[in-house]
Amino acid sequence: MDLGASIGKKHVLVTGAASGLGAHFARVLARCGAKVSVGARRRDRLEALVGALRGAGAGGAAAFDLDVADKGSVVSAFEAAEAALGAVDVVINNAGIADGAAAIDTPPEAFDRVIATNLRGVWLVSTVAAQRWRDAKRGGAIVNIASILGFRVSGGTAAYAVSKAGVVQMTQAHALEWARYGIRVNAIAPGYIETDINAGYFETEHGQAMIKRIPMRRLGQPEDLDGALLLLCSDASRWMTGATIPVDGGHLVSTL
Ligand SMILES: NC(=O)c1ccc[n+]([C@@H]2O[C@H](COP(=O)([O-])OP(=O)(O)OC[C@H]3O[C@@H](n4cnc5c(N)ncnc54)[C@H](OP(=O)(O)O)[C@@H]3O)[C@@H](O)[C@H]2O)c1
Repeated sequence: MDLGASIGKKHVLVTGAASGLGAHFARVLARCGAKVSVGARRRDRLEALVGALRGAGAGGAAAFDLDVADKGSVVSAFEAAEAALGAVDVVINNAGIADGAAAIDTPPEAFDRVIATNLRGVWLVSTVAAQRWRDAKRGGAIVNIASILGFRVSGGTAAYAVSKAGVVQMTQAHALEWARYGIRVNAIAPGYIETDINAGYFETEHGQAMIKRIPMRRLGQPEDLDGALLLLCSDASRWMTGATIPVDGGHLVSTL
């Protein structure tokens, strides 16, 4: 199977592509010739990215305003993406925020913000995509960006870990319900990769100690996720659904 060719025929919508992993995923997919739609709240960053994607070989690129916590915004984003580049084939649920507070000191509003983006946002984008694919009688693929914190815990990240555990379970629940429509739902659970979401943390004593506990003894690079990304976005994973793939330098199997 020609992995690159299978991706090159697809229109991939990436949420939270204004920075970090989402922007990287968009660039990787563009290099494979895919049509790439990017959404987030910071439109200026997206417009700059779209210029780079066109230069990198994308079959087409478009940016749109997207707040994954707002259903109206999600529906408008799909309409804008499809008006610009045709039917969406793959959705990458990448938008996410961190909390960074001890559970006992986390105000309910902060908990709600994390859940609204990381969990309810994935639910909204996924259900809007699935309804459109079901009604159009065409299949699709969803790739959720979970986290190793969906499987294990670390101090000061309780709300985030709860939201990502929900994404792992949602991946299975949606996979079960939507296989009948030809919709596959899988996830990547990245380990620690330095981006805006954790900027500064790895310079701290706690952050440095954490890196030493990763069996491969290093942070990830965005490129370390490319294999899992291309697998789950392409037809190479056509008989996979409901899976969450850890890509973490062995962090999930670190010694207790
Ligand atoms: N970096 C890591 O170590 C790591 C590890 C495991 C999992 N992850 C996950 O990977 C994903 C990407 O994170 P990152 O590391 O690349 O961090 P990042 O650079 O902070 O990226 C997060 C992106 O999400 C967007 N976003 C936030 N709230 C949004 C909303 N309501 N609607 C639409 N977009 C929104 C942000 O853009 P705007 O502010 O412009 O909307 C931003 O581009 C997240 O789901 C994160 O939990 C990261």
